[in-house]
Amino acid sequence: MRTPIIAGNWKMHKTLAEAVQLAHEIREATADINGVEIVLCPPFTALGAVEGVIAASKVGLGAQNMYWEEQGAFTGEISPLMLDGLCDYVILGHSERRQFFGETDEGVNKKIKAALSHHLIPIVCVGENLAQNEAGETAAFVGGQVKAAFAGLSAEDAIKVIVAYEPIWAIGTGKNADPATANSIIGLSIRGAIAEMYNEDVAQQVRIQYGGSVKPDNVEAYMSQPDIDGALVGGASLKTESFVALVKGALVKVR
Ligand code: 13P
Repeated sequence: MRTPIIAGNWKMHKTLAEAVQLAHEIREATADINGVEIVLCPPFTALGAVEGVIAASKVGLGAQNMYWEEQGAFTGEISPLMLDGLCDYVILGHSERRQFFGETDEGVNKKIKAALSHHLIPIVCVGENLAQNEAGETAAFVGGQVKAAFAGLSAEDAIKVIVAYEPIWAIGTGKNADPATANSIIGLSIRGAIAEMYNEDVAQQVRIQYGGSVKPDNVEAYMSQPDIDGALVGGASLKTESFVALVKGALVKVR
């Protein structure tokens, strides 16, 4: 049984004061919801303060990125050692990092290993762009990204990783992927790649989210799919009302 997980990726939004307020509201509004893992991923500048707000609640905390080295002359970077103990999750290899900041499969793999060795659960993003999608390359491309991400991980570590399937053309566009199609990419290409690397049992234990224009009115359609275990959400995670509606939508899995 895979616990459903709704994560809010706040991206480059929210001042310190706004982040504290949003986290506070979400903590209050989700206090009575059970059976869904809830994760907030504010910008680095608000991590410490949001940690204070959600401490001793069921709401978890994640960072949006991280470098793989523990310390050193890497101006502007944040290390796994700095996040260890501060948060529980870290988003790695988001398509915006790959597209705008030159992240590679190899670097993402190093970051995943560094995260796991510092008690952080990686939320690893994969997904094809529009041209790849239209050319029918999605399955091969996404499968390749998954294999590169998991390269060198033990089965014991592999089952801790959360994968987020985020087709680039669906992010922030309002054009969400068809839920049944997303389910089949997740089941066949992502779980399939993990099964090829390890075995079916490991593949069945890894949690896989969908991301890309998830909103309160479509979240249940995703969460009703057998291979989709959660959502990684940008825009709709920035307001209490819509984020809480997403968490409630995930309850279709626990009913
Ligand atoms: P949107 O929900 O805004 O489409 O963003 C998805 C995303 O990139 C989450 O990481």
